[in-house]
Amino acid sequence: MTGLCDRFGRRITYLRVSVTDKCNLRCVYCMPEEGVVPRSHDEILRVEEIVRVVRVATALGIDKIRITGGEPLVRKGIIDLVRMVAALPGVRDLSMTTNATLLMRYARDLAKAGLRRVNISLDTLRPDVYAKITRRGDIRAALEGIAAAEVAGLRPLRLNAVVVRGMNDGEIEDLARLTLTHAWDVRFIEFMPFWGNGGSLGPWQVVPIEEIRRRVVDLGPEPCSACQPPGGAGPATYLRLPGAMGRVGFISREGDGFCVRCNRLRLTADGKLLPCLLAGLELDLRGALRGGASDDDIAALIRKAVALKPESGAVRDDGGACSRRGVPPPLSDIGG
Ligand code: 5AD
Ligand code: SF4
Repeated sequence: MTGLCDRFGRRITYLRVSVTDKCNLRCVYCMPEEGVVPRSHDEILRVEEIVRVVRVATALGIDKIRITGGEPLVRKGIIDLVRMVAALPGVRDLSMTTNATLLMRYARDLAKAGLRRVNISLDTLRPDVYAKITRRGDIRAALEGIAAAEVAGLRPLRLNAVVVRGMNDGEIEDLARLTLTHAWDVRFIEFMPFWGNGGSLGPWQVVPIEEIRRRVVDLGPEPCSACQPPGGAGPATYLRLPGAMGRVGFISREGDGFCVRCNRLRLTADGKLLPCLLAGLELDLRGALRGGASDDDIAALIRKAVALKPESGAVRDDGGACSRRGVPPPLSDIGG
């Protein structure tokens, strides 16, 4: 049989590729104020190395690629990277997660290079709250970036909002209502308190996904058969507001079939292959790439990562993500 399948019968078809650990923002839930010490140039995979890993992975049955960061658009050569990955025969779906602040400049070239769609991080519609959450961002750049993505045809467009108590939890309804007039998926993400945010936020700032869902349900969503794909891929569940053009989605830290439906591997900017976001396991692909490994050797490492996938990411009772490395890595490192 072709394709990658793990010990628990999950088909692994999706690779998330972080192309940089740098970001032009400093979201409070993601990074410490001072940022993270950037990896040296040598530590980061070169464009050709990334393309090689993706090529070998697609030969094994991976057909969905997402480019992440940090902020992928701060990486030099990002358009070339997208073009080369898009040209690989096995790539069926190529997307990017971005904060959109540089999309005004790049959306058209990205679409031309073969990018299909973007997931955009936008937690608020208020300029003052945006400045506070991102610590340095201007919401106008993000909104212009969203408009540029639409013009460029990067569809379907998804917005991701991390809800943080005391910051943007008053905007759940406003964000959900964006779907009334836009054919967007607006997805709420439960804040993970111990995830690389430098301790600037506390566990009390978690707004449970059920609380978020209840508030959207209070807006009177319609039953929607297309909204709950049973066994569908991905961690989100969806609702549709009456007459809405788009959907409202919910992504919890666990449960909701989060791990049961896991179909992915992750490649970090510095060339580690992660079987699971939370388990703290990693395989050193960069060492292999630079140590003369053949394509078969790379393929063997990818298969090994699949074989190492745990059944679930073992989230502790207090909600903290358990990691064998002690502290979970910042999401900017591993690409969300
Ligand atoms: N909790 C939840 N989501 C997070 N992200 C980053 N840090 C966190 C966190 N602590 C997600 C956000 C962001 C993407 C890059 O990673 O969705 O948009
Ligand atoms: Fe940058 Fe995204 Fe992290 Fe914000 S959440 S600091 S935009 S990588």
